[in-house]
Amino acid sequence: EPSSTVQLAVIPGDGIGPEVIAEAVKVLHSVTSDLDTTFALTEYQLGAEHWLASGETLPDETLAKLRDHDAILFGAVGAAPGDTRIPSGLIEREMLLKLRFSLDHFVNLRPSRLYPGIASPLASPGDVDFIVVREGTEGPYAGNGGTLRGGTPHEIATEVSLNTAHGVERVVRDAFRRANDRPRRHLTLVHKHNVLVYSGHLWRRTVEAVAAEFPEVTHDYLHVDAAMIFLVTDPARFDVIVTDNLFGDIITDLAAAITGGIGLAASGNINMDRTAPSMFEPVHGSAPDIAGQQKADPTAAILSVALMLRHLGFDDAAARVERAVDDDVAGRTGTPRTTAQIGDAIAALV
Ligand code: NAI
Ligand code: MG
Repeated sequence: EPSSTVQLAVIPGDGIGPEVIAEAVKVLHSVTSDLDTTFALTEYQLGAEHWLASGETLPDETLAKLRDHDAILFGAVGAAPGDTRIPSGLIEREMLLKLRFSLDHFVNLRPSRLYPGIASPLASPGDVDFIVVREGTEGPYAGNGGTLRGGTPHEIATEVSLNTAHGVERVVRDAFRRANDRPRRHLTLVHKHNVLVYSGHLWRRTVEAVAAEFPEVTHDYLHVDAAMIFLVTDPARFDVIVTDNLFGDIITDLAAAITGGIGLAASGNINMDRTAPSMFEPVHGSAPDIAGQQKADPTAAILSVALMLRHLGFDDAAARVERAVDDDVAGRTGTPRTTAQIGDAIAALV
């Protein structure tokens, strides 16, 4: 049972982050106003602008405070790609990845649905509705690597992909559970075990072992290159995709593109053991090119609120947000609306 006060940390971040988060919070208040539960929001200033002003990326005391919350709602961080005042990768490594690793966000969840009324760049995409369960704490992103003889013709660079039996098993089991709860009950492992034999076989054996616990879920396997073909030629074939950190990063961007773009793509960085708060965020970045102009689509941030509500046990409220987005999206005519107008419309529909 959800507790009567949910402590929610809000990190608006940079660029369009604060604009889309304002609308997400508006919809959250609207959908939770008739619940017994109170959502207490605490805002944290983090990101590129905060680093420029303070020199802080993610201080340990801020991380400790974030840990005390029930969930985190996150906008986006990062400066314009050409901004030379901020070292490339600094905010990603020292803030975003630090958050995901410290809070053990081992499930990176990204639903991909082609909404009625939204145009896909594919000519005949079919009925696209799948989720990607991407491992979030291991793989080549674990930070196991280094450089020797840097800057010389003999430079050696390593970036070792870490895959632990524990880490693979927990994300595979989560993916099977999610598949079991969906009408089609189908899971696809995406990897490249013909070349990446050590990690690939661990993933494959783990899927076979965990599959025995879910007799009603069918499963198959695709090499990642073949998966790229099918995502373009027949994306409707997918139900649940489970994959490693790097493949998942790439697959989910393609998935967002074929389902009508970045303005609709939501994600959760989830600690399913619930030993730390999970974090929910739109897939897009801070979009410096349109920041401060009320041009950003807040739908991805609003759908991230729905993912958060479901994770916290508020299934009805989550479904209301999703239905409101469905209705709003179906009625879109192409007449431009401001970020706040879209937020107002969805808040009214819930
Ligand atoms: P981006 O996602 O910010 O923008 C890419 C393009 O999509 C831009 O043309 C932008 O205007 C458009 N766009 C993005 N979100 C939109 C929305 N809600 N509505 C309408 N249009 C939208 O990616 P980009 O330009 O590569 O990165 C900008 C900054 O964001 C960089 O500093 C990058 O590191 C950071 N970033 C942060 C992420 C995060 O906080 N999780 C994720 C991705 C990028
Ligand atoms: Mg990405």
